[in-house]
Amino acid sequence: MCGIVGYIGTEEATPILLEGLKKLEYRGYDSAGISLYDQGQIETVKTVGKLAELEELVQQEKPSGQLGIGHTRWATHGKPSTPNSHPHTSSDDQFVVVHNGIIENYSTLKSELKEKGYQFTSQTDTEVIPHLLTEYYDGNLEQTVRKVIEKLEGAYALLILSKGEPDKLIAVREDSPLIVGLADGEYFVASDIPAILSHTDQIYILEDGEMAAINRDGVELSTVDGKPVDKEIFTVDWDPGMAEKAGFEHFMLKEIHEQPEALRRAVAGRLNQADIHLDEVGLTAQEIKDYNKIYIVACGTAYHSGLVGKYAIESLAEIPVEVDIASEFRYRDPLVDQDTLVIVVSQSGETADTLAALREAQNKGARVIAICNTVGSTIPREADDVVYIHAGPEIAVASTKAYLTMLIAFYMLAIYFARAKDLLATERSEELISALKELPDQVAEIIEESEEQIAQLAKEYLKQENAFFIGRSIDYAVALEGSLKLKEISYIHAEAYPAGELKHGTLALIEEGIPVIALVTQESVIEKTLSNIKEVKARGGVITGITANGVDEKEFDYSIKIPQTDQLLTSILTAIPLQLLAYYVAVERGCDVDQPRNLAKSVTVE
Ligand code: AGP
Repeated sequence: MCGIVGYIGTEEATPILLEGLKKLEYRGYDSAGISLYDQGQIETVKTVGKLAELEELVQQEKPSGQLGIGHTRWATHGKPSTPNSHPHTSSDDQFVVVHNGIIENYSTLKSELKEKGYQFTSQTDTEVIPHLLTEYYDGNLEQTVRKVIEKLEGAYALLILSKGEPDKLIAVREDSPLIVGLADGEYFVASDIPAILSHTDQIYILEDGEMAAINRDGVELSTVDGKPVDKEIFTVDWDPGMAEKAGFEHFMLKEIHEQPEALRRAVAGRLNQADIHLDEVGLTAQEIKDYNKIYIVACGTAYHSGLVGKYAIESLAEIPVEVDIASEFRYRDPLVDQDTLVIVVSQSGETADTLAALREAQNKGARVIAICNTVGSTIPREADDVVYIHAGPEIAVASTKAYLTMLIAFYMLAIYFARAKDLLATERSEELISALKELPDQVAEIIEESEEQIAQLAKEYLKQENAFFIGRSIDYAVALEGSLKLKEISYIHAEAYPAGELKHGTLALIEEGIPVIALVTQESVIEKTLSNIKEVKARGGVITGITANGVDEKEFDYSIKIPQTDQLLTSILTAIPLQLLAYYVAVERGCDVDQPRNLAKSVTVE
């Protein structure tokens, strides 16, 4: 989705803005632009395409100033084009604005403004804002912004500059993230932490309905209706190096390699001999016993982690779990009340559908636990309890280390619930916890031992435009994630099926040479899955089996081994070859691995 950066200080703003925008490239975008204020003039440079094209234009036009705003746009209203890219300027050239989000009532506002004679140069919803600023300007920028905000319906994070009020930067938000970074005599604004992390780790996190008026002497925080806000400074505990590629060709590969460390961070301080410490979940044992149902609600990869969560919670804590896609849950009047526990899952903590699902659940009286990666983002701030997964910044659009740490969060929650309900004997709990502790090393072992094999496999294997992933029980849940990973970064059409379901229709698609990736780890159904593999093989499917030692591999054309672990925990290990396979196939096909077409990292619109 769109990215925002702003700067006011004593340095030339252009390189700071461009560097910040680069750090936000991972969010996905199709055009970019910057505006600089200098000596009573505002200069804007913007273009459709990637940041390299903006940089070229900047070289030619050399905008200058120590105050500026920048934006990467991911088209929603109006196609990717230079006129539609941000910043947007008022017809009288007095105001420039960058905007993340969607102004839902923009067409009404646009008609009203057109009737008053305002000329529009773009198809965007955003352009109403600079014109409204002109319409309502009363000599005081903050007051004018407040009047404009009253007219807007929808979601926005806005940065505003005015020629008439030099040396001032206004930031305001509603349902779209915005942070203000504080350094010595200079201030940064961004939609996302990595954009400013190399400059400061001291930030204000703006809440919905809050505004920051920033000049070189400081930041004045207030609500949009004018009440002063007193806010604590938040210290970001990410190391700036975490948001760099560190020698890897792509962020995705770096993040795959970071998974052992991410898992270690996710469990740090939480695993005891036989118990799980999750003090951040404020439920009593009685409350856990009283829940008759759990809903897990999320999107994409986070949703897939919830499918594994269902197996873990149902099998250990014996609470029925329904897993729902957030964009469906929020509109289908779900049967949720105070006896239902809702768990929402989100890497970014800003996904619009997941946030709306959380609010829907709370409105119906349910308690909501968030499993989240991004500290200070909206979802954990609104949830009743938060389990942070501590994966560190995930930059590649394709989620890997966040997925793995979401899985481990679910395993920890399942054990925690089961112990609270007295359903898990100490011995079994110790067994599971000791297996959890081994997982980071086992993940490292899989990467070490299978990366080269998978890179080779990718060269010859996935030449087709279709692929299938099959498995049973937890293996099926992971197959769904493997299939999403392959399609989102390599653009190969991939589907995941419960292995036993193929013969009910999909087997008709299996023909000579079709790649089928089979996960075979669940002891109770290994023989059944092997029979399904035979059915595929008989019709020409080429099988890659992912399995632990001891499984009959004679039907496999290729075999990838994972180390032995507890049956329930295999998802954390089988996910690794699938991530590597998707990565190397995408590289082979020359795809833009970190920023796949049409996709964005943080989906802040419906
Ligand atoms: C995964 O590779 C995708 N990029 C996507 O499915 C993602 O998991 C989904 O958009 C949810 O994002 P969130 O975890 O930030 O809420």
